[in-house]
Amino acid sequence: MTRRRRIYEGKAKILFEGPEPGTLVQYFKDDATAFNAQKKGTITGKGVLNNRISEYLMMKLGEIGIPTHFVRRLNMREQLIREVEIIPIEVVVRNVAAGSLTKRFGIPEGTQLPRSIVEYYYKSDELGDPMVSEEHITAFGWAAPQDLDDMLALALRVNDYLSGLFLGIGLRLVDFKVEFGRLWENEEMRIVLADEISPDNCRLWDVKTNEKLDKDRFRQDLGNVAEAYQEVARRLGILPEAGPGDHAAPKLVQ
Ligand code: TMP
Repeated sequence: MTRRRRIYEGKAKILFEGPEPGTLVQYFKDDATAFNAQKKGTITGKGVLNNRISEYLMMKLGEIGIPTHFVRRLNMREQLIREVEIIPIEVVVRNVAAGSLTKRFGIPEGTQLPRSIVEYYYKSDELGDPMVSEEHITAFGWAAPQDLDDMLALALRVNDYLSGLFLGIGLRLVDFKVEFGRLWENEEMRIVLADEISPDNCRLWDVKTNEKLDKDRFRQDLGNVAEAYQEVARRLGILPEAGPGDHAAPKLVQ
């Protein structure tokens, strides 16, 4: 392996210096953590699957005009991305009650929400990613009001598009988390979708059986974690059987 400068190492990914200025290489690990890294494990093959799933979803979102950091996949575990300044806010969009929402408000898991609910969390491992309001975000300067408007509008477009895409393959998009970054081009700054979109940061349930096909299998020790991620990739039509670099259409589930 060639020596590359490691820019940042997170819990599930490593960022390396890219081949040209303004780019980075995003490497997907098999490591998994939950509950602010109190639970740690390895899911063999997860990195390969998430690299492929995130490539596919970022590409599809790019096709409908959502700006993203994604450039192209390089190999099984790496993708080339634009270097952005990550905004330290996790944007969570929820359609169905699950996870921390059920605990916080005592709403039974699986309750359809009256409308999509957006929440913000401040990215800080030391503080355990506390939930914050728009007021905190703008008052503490984590994002400007205009940035936040853009993030909200983009997150809702991502939700609408991905809800439909997943429903077409028999999966309910229960909730997800996205991150955004600032990308500078000539003196202009725009907000783009960054990080990854994969079963690590989405909840996906089978429409018919409610089977969980996401990281909750790891969080809740349900077993067959890699198999669940693989099933998501299979339904998206992007498993390697489809041929390398092949973008077979997602399979419609009746
Ligand atoms: P939550 O119900 O635990 O708040 O999670 C909401 C969504 O955000 C769920 O799809 C999982 C995702 N998520 C992350 O991607 N990273 C995190 O650190 C947390 C807590 C949740």
